[in-house]
Amino acid sequence: MFIALVLGAAVGVVWILPMPFYSEVVVDPPAIAGSDAELARGRKLVTAACGGCHGAADDPRLRGRAMTELPSRWGKLTSPNLTRHKSAGLGAVGDAELARALRCGIARDGGFMPPYMPRYDRIADDDLAAMLAFLRSEDPLVESSSSRPGESKPSIWIKLQSQLVWRPKPAPAQAIAAPSPGDAEALGKYLVEDLLQCNACHGSGLDALALDDPRQDPNFLGGGMLLSDVNGRKIYAANLTFDEDTGIGAWTFDDFRRAMTEGRRADGTLLHWPMRRYPMLDEAELAAIYAYLANVPVVVRERIAVDPYPIPGQRLDRGRHLFFKHECYTCHGDKAPHGALIDAAEHFETDAAMAEFLRDPSVTRPGTPMPAYGGVLEEADLLAVAAYVRSVAPAQPK
Ligand code: HEC
Ligand code: HEC
Ligand code: HEC
Repeated sequence: MFIALVLGAAVGVVWILPMPFYSEVVVDPPAIAGSDAELARGRKLVTAACGGCHGAADDPRLRGRAMTELPSRWGKLTSPNLTRHKSAGLGAVGDAELARALRCGIARDGGFMPPYMPRYDRIADDDLAAMLAFLRSEDPLVESSSSRPGESKPSIWIKLQSQLVWRPKPAPAQAIAAPSPGDAEALGKYLVEDLLQCNACHGSGLDALALDDPRQDPNFLGGGMLLSDVNGRKIYAANLTFDEDTGIGAWTFDDFRRAMTEGRRADGTLLHWPMRRYPMLDEAELAAIYAYLANVPVVVRERIAVDPYPIPGQRLDRGRHLFFKHECYTCHGDKAPHGALIDAAEHFETDAAMAEFLRDPSVTRPGTPMPAYGGVLEEADLLAVAAYVRSVAPAQPK
């Protein structure tokens, strides 16, 4: 009885306590060169590494959002607005605070951030500088937005570990250089483990997180983690090790490149969000990731099937049928007017203009996470699905 009371009180105390503070940690911000090349590199790194969490499945702007894909036992989590807005975004946050957030996992107010915000303690100083330069830039992805997704409410389990187990990373003791582009092995490791952290979803997640050496996770890249898709349905991360049957051991490099850049498997099926597309990675980077994965210890872990999604019939509305058949709902949601598509009729005055966009969205929006549907849908079908999207997203009165 007494023990139960003490335990109950302890849990209560943890529950009301804020995250521990580490305001004393100081990180020297990297020197920002201010060149165009640095800015372009920053855009690439931020869209690849940060966009998936700080942007939405159907809106790449870095306005923050509810992180509904993460397991609910971690709490009700939100990613903050990273745009240049003075109070809602990062406009008033200095480079030293930003560098500390990324290197150590300490928020602007000194509070500890649980590792669902990744640590970037091993990325190169130049890459960190490029990211900061981009976040300060005039790019539309970071255009000032007053969006306030609200505070994260981590669960008691996360709070307990934040008090008792997890610690922030120390500030780096020396300069960190980028792997040389010719060293494929170092580049693959850098991309998978340090920058893109594929294991955050494809490993054990926070349950067996090995912050200092991600490879200590016995399920490193073995998949199986339960996540939620845009519509709150179950989705499991895949096995990325080279097991022939349960992993990607039978995939050629071309299969892998297509999955990463176009978001489609060899059989044409779509990789569903929260898996991201990485069209910004170049050939050498993709090859390095593929070679890296080929050398990871094999995990045998059966794929877990999920229920198929009902597809509305095509007789009533062919466009709506195509919208579901071609899985537009996996990013735009299954309820009309489908998330960010609410403004679509305003952005495209005719079905033909929208069909043109759907054929290859990267023509007008380079590096966009929206996949191309040219070659997947025929011209008449592109027009039909565009007509559907425009009909459910009528121009909003301003
Ligand atoms: C796996 C998802 C995820 C990724 C990837 C991610 N973040 Fe975050 N980030 C979060 C979450 C969630 C929080 C909120 C943490 C909290 O509430 O304690 C956060 C917090 C932050 C903060 C807030 C610091 C503060 O002072 O409040 C900054 C800045 C930030 N992220 C920048 C970035 C940048 C830059 C990248 C890419 C290099 C990135 N994040 C990648 C999920 C992510
Ligand atoms: C935010 C979580 C998340 C991150 C980060 C992530 N993935 Fe995924 N990935 C998934 C999910 C979920 C699936 C399953 C998608 C599906 O079932 O349609 C998946 C599927 C895949 C597949 C398809 C495998 C198959 O057998 O069908 C590949 C390949 C892949 N991911 C590679 C990567 C690589 C490489 C990285 C790092 C650069 C990465 N992923 C980062 C969540 C993620
Ligand atoms: C993998 C996620 C994903 C899938 C699948 C997807 N989209 Fe998108 N879509 C996006 C993203 C992200 C954007 C925002 C593009 C940008 O601004 O860079 C977008 C933008 C759009 C836009 C432009 C919206 C506007 O107002 O500017 C239209 C129209 C659209 N999508 C229609 C579709 C249709 C139709 C399908 C299916 C045939 C589809 N999308 C499938 C992610 C997706």
